[in-house]
Amino acid sequence: MTNSPGPSRRGFLLGLGAVGVAAGCGSSSSKIMSSDAAVKTVERDRARSGSGVFAHDLVLSPADVDLGGIVVNTWTFGGQPGAPELRMKAGDSVRVNVANQLSAATSIHWHGLSLRNDMDGVADITQPPIAAGGSFSYRFTAPTPGTFWYHPHMGLQLDRGLYAPFVIEDPDEPLDVDVDQVVILDDWLDDIAGGTPEAAFSSLSSMPGMNMGIGSMGLSGDHTSSLLGGDAGDISYPEHLLNGKVAFDRPTFDVPLNGRIRLRIINAGSDTAYRVAIEGHQMTVTHADGFPVEHVVVDALLLGMGERYDVMVAPTSGAWSLYAEAVGKDGSASAVIRTAGAEATKASPSTVRPKELDGKLLAYSDLVADESVRFAWSPDRTVDVELTGSMMKNDWTIDRRSFAQHEPIEVRSGEKVRLRIKNSTQMWHPMHLHGHTFRLGGSPSNPRKDTANVLPGKTMDFDLIADNPGQWMLHCHNTYHLESGMATVLSYMK
Ligand code: C2O
Ligand code: CU
Repeated sequence: MTNSPGPSRRGFLLGLGAVGVAAGCGSSSSKIMSSDAAVKTVERDRARSGSGVFAHDLVLSPADVDLGGIVVNTWTFGGQPGAPELRMKAGDSVRVNVANQLSAATSIHWHGLSLRNDMDGVADITQPPIAAGGSFSYRFTAPTPGTFWYHPHMGLQLDRGLYAPFVIEDPDEPLDVDVDQVVILDDWLDDIAGGTPEAAFSSLSSMPGMNMGIGSMGLSGDHTSSLLGGDAGDISYPEHLLNGKVAFDRPTFDVPLNGRIRLRIINAGSDTAYRVAIEGHQMTVTHADGFPVEHVVVDALLLGMGERYDVMVAPTSGAWSLYAEAVGKDGSASAVIRTAGAEATKASPSTVRPKELDGKLLAYSDLVADESVRFAWSPDRTVDVELTGSMMKNDWTIDRRSFAQHEPIEVRSGEKVRLRIKNSTQMWHPMHLHGHTFRLGGSPSNPRKDTANVLPGKTMDFDLIADNPGQWMLHCHNTYHLESGMATVLSYMK
């Protein structure tokens, strides 16, 4: 790729200019903007006495990166896709000083955190973009324990190497494990056979619906999967990464004999769902999108873009392949889990699909919220949200409006709101809400999540309590659908 800003500069978020930050659209005077005193008041209540300080300097810059025998020039946070992992304790005051050494403006979003609105990192909505060569200091209280991640909220930058784990540890951690390991998955095209996210996006826009491959990347029409209700994705990715490495150079995770490993699995891909399993083992799911669930044992997991699951595994003596299949597409990512003294080469090769992949797959209906995080209330009102558009036109929208024309979903502090999300398109969409977790479905025992896959023709209820004032994005976490405009704003009103 080149270091020029490219077509992402035309991204819809930039297209708004600074209007959103300064005034918002429409009835801006009654909106609670990120600069409002209400945002600071809520933040003050998050601080816990006796908690620590977590500080990190984050530099965004172009870099040559070895993905495991494949060297690419891309954009990273300091040298490696999927890094650095930031880890602190709940209640800590976080200070991340961002230096933008890219040739394009950016902003950093902390995915899944119920943080203060002015630190949410959505360019033109919660802050002005961080200019090329500029800097910004993000300061907020780490609100709740869990597995989160961070990435730019600007154009197609997420589909480069700009994504990494953000882990908030529980000061009173109830789980007893020997190893705590993040697994971050990503679909990769940047700088392979000349590929760039911008080229992929423009091929979607200019040749929509063409069922053909373009070189070794770009479009391919035949990505169907019954798991996703049809079309699984729009883009063929030449590589899939686990912790920044292709399967050929997969990482090894060491676990003591008779020990337990906690895996914090994150899908940081842009257009790919992953199905994950470990050969010879089941996984005990403990958290969904960072929030605890009643433990449930499964053979395999499905993660849409933006989703996370924490699982515990007690590996039997030996070495075992962890396999992340690109659903409906070619390719996979891999790792090895090995007990002390075992040879990593005893694991099945990364190309071998473990039979557990076709075993019991975690369904949303298997998830029961832990008692401590249940929402035991009924919503005050329901807002209908329709997912619209088509792959043929690459015109993904919400309520038939692209983001530039969006009508915000207006709420008032304290309201309990049901977002009834109806997918009227032919494709699945991993829908993500900023600044809140919702109850997925109407029963008190339903899990808390911030991202959920809405399959074609289906309707899902996102039940939320409006307890975090500000302006918050609701959007599809397919990077290319977001760029085409599948986004709106949950807007707090005075
Ligand atoms: Cu992970 Cu609005 O994004
Ligand atoms: Cu989508």
